[in-house]
Amino acid sequence: MAFTGKTVKLSTGYEMPIVGLGTWQSGKDGEVQKAVVTALEKGYRHIDCAAVYGNEKEVGEGLAEAFSKGVCKREDVFVVSKIWNTFHEPEDVLPQLKKSLKDLQLEYLDLYLVHWPIAFQKDKENPTNMFPKAPSGLPVYADISPSVTFKAMTELPKDLVRSVGVSNYNKRQIEEATAAAGVAPAVIQIESHPYFLNDKLITFALSKGIQVTAYSPLGAPARPWVKADDPVVLKDPVVLAIADKHKVSAGQVLIRFQLERGVTCIPKSGNPDRIAQNFDVMNLKLSDDEVKQLKALNKDYRACVPSITNNEGKTVPRDASHPHFPWNEEY
Ligand code: A2P
Repeated sequence: MAFTGKTVKLSTGYEMPIVGLGTWQSGKDGEVQKAVVTALEKGYRHIDCAAVYGNEKEVGEGLAEAFSKGVCKREDVFVVSKIWNTFHEPEDVLPQLKKSLKDLQLEYLDLYLVHWPIAFQKDKENPTNMFPKAPSGLPVYADISPSVTFKAMTELPKDLVRSVGVSNYNKRQIEEATAAAGVAPAVIQIESHPYFLNDKLITFALSKGIQVTAYSPLGAPARPWVKADDPVVLKDPVVLAIADKHKVSAGQVLIRFQLERGVTCIPKSGNPDRIAQNFDVMNLKLSDDEVKQLKALNKDYRACVPSITNNEGKTVPRDASHPHFPWNEEY
């Protein structure tokens, strides 16, 4: 169901703004710091971060700059971070939360997510190494139940984190994590755009009171593993025709599409005009027929399958042989 306001109430009682700024691949060279300040100036009140993006210190600089300029106050902004795969042991969860808080220059997070249901072994010699490599070139997997990590998240001090959730878990993993922790994730973050609707998982999560945030709502056109002949949802003729009719951009149509389904989203941009444009969707309204047309574009095309180059120089899915790989099941 479409949102009626600019925020949605989570199962924890906290309000989450329906459009946030994504920061994956937002540069440390000043891009992300400026993007955060611009976004807050343009009215965003939700910033999505993750330890593995490697730019939380720069996001923190942006937040500090905006607060000191009086653009907004800490309590006005909903800040999200995610714990990385090398830190899934329960003993690592609190220290990692504290590390993100320090980098972000914050006293608390609004939402902390388990980034993946997949654990990697911690590199004991160099714990900051987020991609410990096996001789095959793949990461060194660890068999830690995704439920165990989620349960540890729910036990974090409430003054340091207000809500906890997961990302990239499948239906079974959500159910198991909920049973183990005795409480459902407040939010699940998953890929969604018209080429990859993810409808079944979204319908399931929303039916359980779990808010869904769509990552890559624009189809992640700049993902590192993109190929020249991959489909580009931002250029789809149906998306362009709807954009033309409403005199908005394709990006705005894709963002509004998620809001019409009751799904929050976090488009990334480092460009001031696109940052402003992506938030200027609150008064846009897509008709039921337009939503239907956009849904009909689905081709179950997942853009975000992290891939790496193995020792033989081949690009291969990074995690497909992991025991907790989420995408071997229907949804
Ligand atoms: P840029 O940072 O130069 O604006 P997603 O959130 O799906 O991963 O997409 C992010 C990508 O889409 C980034 O490369 C971003 O580039 C680009 N982008 C962001 N907003 C728009 C928009 N309104 N129209 C076209 N491309 C956009």
